[in-house]
Amino acid sequence: MTEAFRFLTAGESHGRMLGVIVEGVPAGLPLTAEDLATDLARRQRGYGRGARQQIEQDRADIVAGVRHGRTLGSPIQLLIPNRDWENWTTVMQVEPLSADEAATLVAAVDGGDKRSTPVTRVRPGHADLAGALKYGHEDVRNVLERASARETAARVAAGGIARAFLRELGIDVWSFTAEVGGIAIDPTNASRSREEADASPLRCPDPDAEAAMIARIDEAREGGDTVGGVFEVVATGVPIGLGSYVQWDRRLDAALAAAVMSINIVKGVELGMGFEQTRRFGSVVHDVIEGRGDAGRWIHRSNNAGGLTAGVSNGEPIIVRGAVKPISTLARPLPSADLLTGAAVKKAHYERSDISVVPAAGVVGEAMVLLTLARFVLEKIGGDSMDEAADSMTRWRERLGRAPRGDPAGVLAGAGRAGTDGDEIEGGTVGSGGDD
Ligand SMILES: Cc1cc2nc3c(=O)[nH]c(=O)nc-3n(C[C@H](O)[C@H](O)[C@H](O)COP(=O)(O)O)c2cc1C
Repeated sequence: MTEAFRFLTAGESHGRMLGVIVEGVPAGLPLTAEDLATDLARRQRGYGRGARQQIEQDRADIVAGVRHGRTLGSPIQLLIPNRDWENWTTVMQVEPLSADEAATLVAAVDGGDKRSTPVTRVRPGHADLAGALKYGHEDVRNVLERASARETAARVAAGGIARAFLRELGIDVWSFTAEVGGIAIDPTNASRSREEADASPLRCPDPDAEAAMIARIDEAREGGDTVGGVFEVVATGVPIGLGSYVQWDRRLDAALAAAVMSINIVKGVELGMGFEQTRRFGSVVHDVIEGRGDAGRWIHRSNNAGGLTAGVSNGEPIIVRGAVKPISTLARPLPSADLLTGAAVKKAHYERSDISVVPAAGVVGEAMVLLTLARFVLEKIGGDSMDEAADSMTRWRERLGRAPRGDPAGVLAGAGRAGTDGDEIEGGTVGSGGDD
């Protein structure tokens, strides 16, 4: 059975193009390349990015799975050409090198051409050493071309399909930069609207914090250094009931954490209040439930749980934060070692690189959250076509809005089920010994 929104990417950073196949998308979803273009452009922006972004203008061509602007229910294939490829044709050539091509490449190396020269001075913090040893490569280019976050353009394109699908069902996902180099936004000063934040240099809702973040990135640039931060992804309109507590691999919280953690550069994931919960008493952490609201919504006084309890969505906005480490390719490289000789070298390899990528990583975070939510939505409501999925979602939301039918057998009727104020409800039983 096909897992909904399963996807696989392919492509090297300076190869001809990136590709992605997305399976399990319902039929009848309106989809054009334009739908994917906005997020691809958002991924390329952000103060602190390197020169590569001026070369590329990412656009995903839809080459399979869509006819006359609507999905067919068959696998969708997207291709994203790398404009920079034309500068790397021989270095990244797919076919074996002819004698002439090999001689040209050797001559380029002898002439000091950096692109053509095998990379052996492994970069601390990058995939170079572990990747080369794992796959038996003697030129680290064979590793870094795929480990490069250029691949995340393919994820963002795939995420655009999930965004189009979820939009039809009333679910929306966005992100913002919450922290750069230790400078965090002040939520009380987050005066920018979502559109304003999205258009700002760091996609940041707090203008004052953003100015300080920009200064921090400049400081890193001047020192030949790099700087990390935190992005926050927010999903709204998610109905209660996605995911499950009944089995570890059905938990939505775990799937979201894995999806965001899979982004090359993310070193930590928090849901809702995250680690901060460990420093506070339960009475100030747990979100008081005020009762059933309109349209199936249950009102929580706060959302410290980030919309997820016991691996199940609880109807509040889902909040996922990703910790972005500083980029590991430094303009002033760290000391390292040579892969082939094993000897220490003064400077690791350097090639054109970003200085800070928190806003871009946030867009990739959105894509991973979108793809994960799309999978869990279809697991919950099913649907081979968009009509079927939309009907099913409407029914589920209506179902949530209705009062429970009560205990069908009447066994517990009159036993204080409703409105009990006391301490006999499961989980809160006085004297219960542990593990709940
Ligand atoms: C949008 C984005 C852009 C990135 N740009 C660079 C870059 O220019 N230079 C670099 O060394 N790492 C860059 N990275 C991070 C590396 O891809 C990543 O650190 C590396 O693959 C090792 O994986 P790890 O950080 O998960 O250990 C970028 C990551 C993202 C998400």
